[in-house]
Amino acid sequence: MNKNILQKIALAILLLLSTIGFSQVKQARIVEDFNKNWNFKLGDYPLAPQKDFNAADWRVLQLPHDWSIEGAFDKDSKTKQAQGFLPAGIGWYRKTFKLLASWKSKNVSVEFDGVFKNSEVFINGHSLGIRPNGYISFSYEFSKYLNFGQENIIAVKVDNDAQPNSRWYTGSGIYRNVRLVVTEKLHVDEWGTFVITPEISKEKASVRLEVDLKNASENEKEFRLVSSILDKNNKEVAKVESTEKIAANSSLKKVQNFNVKNPKLWNTENPYLYKIVTKIYEKAQLTDNYETPLGIRYFNFDAEKGFSLNGKPMKILGVCLHHDNGALGAVENIHAVKRKLVLMKEMGVNAIRMSHNPHSLEMMQLCDEMGFIVQDEAFDVWKKKKVTNDYHKDWDAWHKKDLKDFIRRDRNHPSVMMWSIGNEIREQFDSTGIAITRELAKIVKSLDTTRPVTSALTENIIEKNFIYQSGALDLLGFNYKHEDYKDFPTRFKGQKIIASESVSALETRGHYDFPSDGIKAWPPKHNAPFDGNADWTVSAFDNVKSYWGATHEENWKTIKKQDFMAGTFIWTGFDYIGEPDPYPYPARSSYFGIVDLAGFPKDVYYMYQSEWTTKPVLHIFPHWNWKKDQEVDVWAYYNNADEVELFLNGKSLGKKAKQNDDLHISWRVKFEPGTLKAISRKNGKVVLEKEIHTAGEAFKIDLKADKKEIKNDTYDLVYVTVSITDKEGNLLPNANDLINFEVSGGGKLVGVDNGYQANLDSFKANSCKLFNGKCIAIVQSNGKKESIQLKASTGNLQVALIEVEVQ
Ligand code: GAL
Repeated sequence: MNKNILQKIALAILLLLSTIGFSQVKQARIVEDFNKNWNFKLGDYPLAPQKDFNAADWRVLQLPHDWSIEGAFDKDSKTKQAQGFLPAGIGWYRKTFKLLASWKSKNVSVEFDGVFKNSEVFINGHSLGIRPNGYISFSYEFSKYLNFGQENIIAVKVDNDAQPNSRWYTGSGIYRNVRLVVTEKLHVDEWGTFVITPEISKEKASVRLEVDLKNASENEKEFRLVSSILDKNNKEVAKVESTEKIAANSSLKKVQNFNVKNPKLWNTENPYLYKIVTKIYEKAQLTDNYETPLGIRYFNFDAEKGFSLNGKPMKILGVCLHHDNGALGAVENIHAVKRKLVLMKEMGVNAIRMSHNPHSLEMMQLCDEMGFIVQDEAFDVWKKKKVTNDYHKDWDAWHKKDLKDFIRRDRNHPSVMMWSIGNEIREQFDSTGIAITRELAKIVKSLDTTRPVTSALTENIIEKNFIYQSGALDLLGFNYKHEDYKDFPTRFKGQKIIASESVSALETRGHYDFPSDGIKAWPPKHNAPFDGNADWTVSAFDNVKSYWGATHEENWKTIKKQDFMAGTFIWTGFDYIGEPDPYPYPARSSYFGIVDLAGFPKDVYYMYQSEWTTKPVLHIFPHWNWKKDQEVDVWAYYNNADEVELFLNGKSLGKKAKQNDDLHISWRVKFEPGTLKAISRKNGKVVLEKEIHTAGEAFKIDLKADKKEIKNDTYDLVYVTVSITDKEGNLLPNANDLINFEVSGGGKLVGVDNGYQANLDSFKANSCKLFNGKCIAIVQSNGKKESIQLKASTGNLQVALIEVEVQ
């Protein structure tokens, strides 16, 4: 047989195996992607769950999906400014599917990672239930309603109509992944394991695994429960097995204890992961296999010494992140999340606060794999509202279940080291806060005692803070008010403390106002108008802050000195959609990010890099295209050097060095076009050199893809940075040309953005205006195994083309 035919046969077998039902050949538990081929329509269609409902005119799409991001910005939108003026409303999803007739004896569940919000799921006309919370993961076991071997109809109503319901952009729809999980009647339950590591030494780690088993059959079952710990190379390092019995229609909890010899510890630099594979055998037949991630690490919060991981003192250098993925909206995509986390890692971030709600499975998994410490957060409101239609409406009926499900889903992630039961909760200001805090802490402790319970508080006067007075917090989180930190060790004697939220400074990437000295607070007094720029920009010199916050430098200088402080979470790592304070419409996304919404770092990113990493940094800014003789402030962030010398067109403008606790140096320079060059030196030896050139006439469109190839899986993404350069390749820092895109081959354009907070063009357009010289085009695999061509054109410039391979 020739090679070609063999390849075709192999491909055919692979295709066959990938259709629902054939993966059972390989393993007992079947987990299928259930995102494809859904129909969707905006509006309310109560008859959509019925079989004979005609959905012929419904759009066909692949989940995850967010309909808000596809809509137009509207000043009068019910979602208001907090959600970026994008639409919400009601939408329905519907899908027909078939399962093998031979699965009749199985247990089939559908798992939703997140639906915003108020979902109701129907299978073949039966309602499976509602779930108001838009951030919670949930599932339904629906075998008894399924027609095996025949067509089934699943329909999902999503009701995000009651607005406003959030203080930031939420998105609308089934915006996270959906899976179908098929097991035998006897199986490990949903989120059915819990692993802890009670003792860890250099020689040995003890590992305790709890397994929740479920027997949904009418018969008692005898089975073997076998769990193995595998190291990173899938080598078995420990194994425990036992023979068990479980009654018909019942649940059973089993505990398995292991020892791992010479354990490799998980930490933020080397996040070593083991996994535990739990198998059920009925006679010789493997009937379930379930994986639990395992990271072996220990940590401690100390009232005087702050935080330590595996016995090593360190500061938690964190950022708060909201869940949106910029131009993709709330659509969750592992590649988008990874891009964000890579940028954070390179900046020196070692921790993420999941603001202010449960995040996706992908986010949690990547934090484990990439070495981020996680503050996992459940709520932004309890019983008392922040906005008219927020979660306070669901509190009474749902908070217990939501909190439990959140902990059960996330408690096996080694990255999680704090449970936050709430952000800036209103009940901290009145005595009702005491009972609720105790209730929530108790729920958390009933499911996990290995991590401290915390809450992000604003009030640091003991008598006024009832959440604190409950005595139920293990770790005190304080938001802002950095000037007060120095008093905390005496005020909160013996208490463990973290700056759960800090900074809230404002910046627009690539925009500079002079002079750069002097700090401006917004608003100077509460509710006073912001004396800002007519184009809704804010200078990127880290000198504009919210009145409750601090500049990045003010905050870090303070935190750095407080040994008792476990660390800080900066508000925020990235700009996010919504909360565009301090400006009104048309501003529609936030100014707080260290990185803009498109993923371009603002200058202060390099301040952190110079402080939070050991790699040599020399970053000078602003750009070098100004008016002749204009006074321009030039700032430098640097490390690993004693001084920096600045040159303009070869002439030295002097050497400077940071004094005392300075975090940057600066020069005031009369602008002349040419080359600005900085050299950092240590003991007289050059460490780094940086040059910025005045850019001339536009010559060419420059396209840079963040990957050379992507997978043809309909999910993978490539981010292409677009700019215009002069003949010498210098980026034009003020270019604002409209760039048109055309994509052909194995990809499609799924989002564009330039990071400008007041840009009202659609994130879904086929064009994007450069903002301060840059924009991004996001291209996704469309499933074809053809290379992708992205063409970019504007005005008279030659059309630019970039090719990305598809694997
Ligand atoms: C905090 C709040 C955040 C965000 C931030 C903006 O008080 O916790 O969610 O609103 O202010 O500065």
